[in-house]
Amino acid sequence: MMRITTETKPIEHIATAALVVPVFEGTKETRFGAGDLVDSGEVTGKFGELTLLHHPAGMKAQRVLLAGAGKPEKFDSVAARKLAGAAIRFLKAKSVKQVAFATDPSLAEAVVEGAVLANFDPDRYRTGNDKKSVETVSVTGPADAAERGRIIAEAQNFTRELVNEPANRLAPRQLAEAARKMASAHGLESEVLEQAQMEKLGMGALLGVAQGSAEPPCLIVIRYRPAKGGNAGAHLGLVGKGVTFDTGGISIKPADGMEKMKYDMAGGAAMIGAMQAIAQLKPAIPVTAFIPAVENMPGSRAQRPGDIVTTMSGKTVEVINTDAEGRLILADALTYAKQQGCTHLVDAATLTGAVVVALGHLRVGLFSNDDGMRGRVVTAANAEGDRMWPMPLDDDYKDYLKSAFADLANVGGRWGGSITAAMFLKEFAGDTPWVHLDIAGTAWIDDEKAKSPLAKGPSGVPVRTLVRLAMDW
Ligand code: BES
Ligand code: ZN
Ligand code: ZN
Repeated sequence: MMRITTETKPIEHIATAALVVPVFEGTKETRFGAGDLVDSGEVTGKFGELTLLHHPAGMKAQRVLLAGAGKPEKFDSVAARKLAGAAIRFLKAKSVKQVAFATDPSLAEAVVEGAVLANFDPDRYRTGNDKKSVETVSVTGPADAAERGRIIAEAQNFTRELVNEPANRLAPRQLAEAARKMASAHGLESEVLEQAQMEKLGMGALLGVAQGSAEPPCLIVIRYRPAKGGNAGAHLGLVGKGVTFDTGGISIKPADGMEKMKYDMAGGAAMIGAMQAIAQLKPAIPVTAFIPAVENMPGSRAQRPGDIVTTMSGKTVEVINTDAEGRLILADALTYAKQQGCTHLVDAATLTGAVVVALGHLRVGLFSNDDGMRGRVVTAANAEGDRMWPMPLDDDYKDYLKSAFADLANVGGRWGGSITAAMFLKEFAGDTPWVHLDIAGTAWIDDEKAKSPLAKGPSGVPVRTLVRLAMDW
C-alpha cells in the first residue's frame, strides 16, 4: 500500500526521488534550468506532456518531472487526478519509489486519488520480482483532504482487485467472504442470504439463473448507518450485479473473449468498494448495499429458454434468453432493497453488450425514472470524472418486453438493447427513485491510455461517484 504524506516546505527544499511540477500552456517555466527547453519547444505545457530532468539546479529533489497541465483555467480536480496518475505511471515504469507533487493545495484530494489509482496493476498472479510500485507520495495541502483521497482511491482499487479475480478463485461464496471481511474490518454490518432464505422470499428469478451452477448463489447485504439521524428518512440502496462468471447459460456465449466474463460482477464489486469508503468517510445518510451473486452456467440443471419464473415482486418472467441473466437477478435484488426500506436506489451492472455499441468504452449508460435522482448522480459523476451519458426510458419501450405467456419477457429483441434491459429493471424499481448504470463498456479497460491513471484491466467505475453521491446527499 502506498504511504501518503503532506509537505509544507518550499519546493526547492523537498528531498525526494522525483518532484512533479505542473507546467501550464502559455507560461514560461524558467526554474530548474527549464528555460532552454521551453525556448526550444520541447516543453509546451500541453496536457499530459511529461519531461524528466535529472539533478535540477538549485533543488534538493533528485529529479523534477515537468508535467504539462494544459490551460490553467481548465486545470480542475478532474484534470489534476488524471495528470497525477499519468505522472505516477511514468515514474513507476522507471522504478522511482518516492514522489512529491508540487500542486495547488486545493487539489490535494484529487492528486492523491490519481496517484493511488495509478499505482494499481492487475498483476497479482504473475510471479517474479519485476513488479514495480511507488512506495511514498507526498502532496502539498491539508492532511484531511489527502486522507479522503487515499480512502476513496483505495476503495476503488479494492473493487479492481475483486473484479480481477478469476472465476475459479472468486465464486459467489468468495465474493461474500470478501464483503464480510471488509465489513467487519470497517465496522459495518453484513449478512449473506443463502439459497434457502431466498427460496422463502420467493426470489425465483435470481434462483433460476443460479440453478445451472454447482456454486451456490447468495445475496450479500452490507449496512451502513450514520451516528446521527436526519436526511428526512432517506435511505440509499446500492444494488450491484454479481455474476462471478457469465457463460451465457444454455444460450451459451461464443468462446472468443468469453474469458472476460469474469468481470460480470464488476457492479457488485463497485458496491462493496463504495461501502468500504462510506464506512470511513461516514456520510449522513444510511446506505445499504445488495449484491446478488451467482454463476451463470449451462448444464443438466440449468434454466432453459422458455422457462417461466416468478420474481419476488410477484411478476412472472419468460426467460427467452438465459444470457440476459443480469436483469433477472437484479429484479429480485431491487425488490428486496425496497422491502428493506431503501427510498432511493442506484444499481450498477455490466448489463448489455448493446451499451458498448451505443457509447463505446468511454461513457457509462445512465438510466433513471426520476429527474432529481438522475441529477444527483450526474453531478457526483461529473465532479469525480466518471463519464456517463443519460439514456431514454420512454414508457413505450415496455412494449418490446411483451411475452405471450408471462408478464414480461427477459429480452426485448434486437434494437435498443441497453434501453430494453433498463426498462426491464424499471418494472421492479417501480415508483422508487432509481438510477441504473450500465457499466458493460467501462468496467474493463482494454485499450490503455497513457494519460489515464488506470492500467489495463478493471477500472473500478463507478466507485468514486457512489461515494460522492452518499457524501453530498
Ligand atoms: N454480461 C453480459 C453483458 C456484457 C456483454 C457485459 C459484453 C460486458 C461485455 C450480459 O449478461 C449479457 O450477456 N447480455 C446480453 C443480453 C442479450 C441476450 C439480450 C447481451 O448484451 O448480448
Ligand atoms: Zn449474460
Ligand atoms: Zn452477464
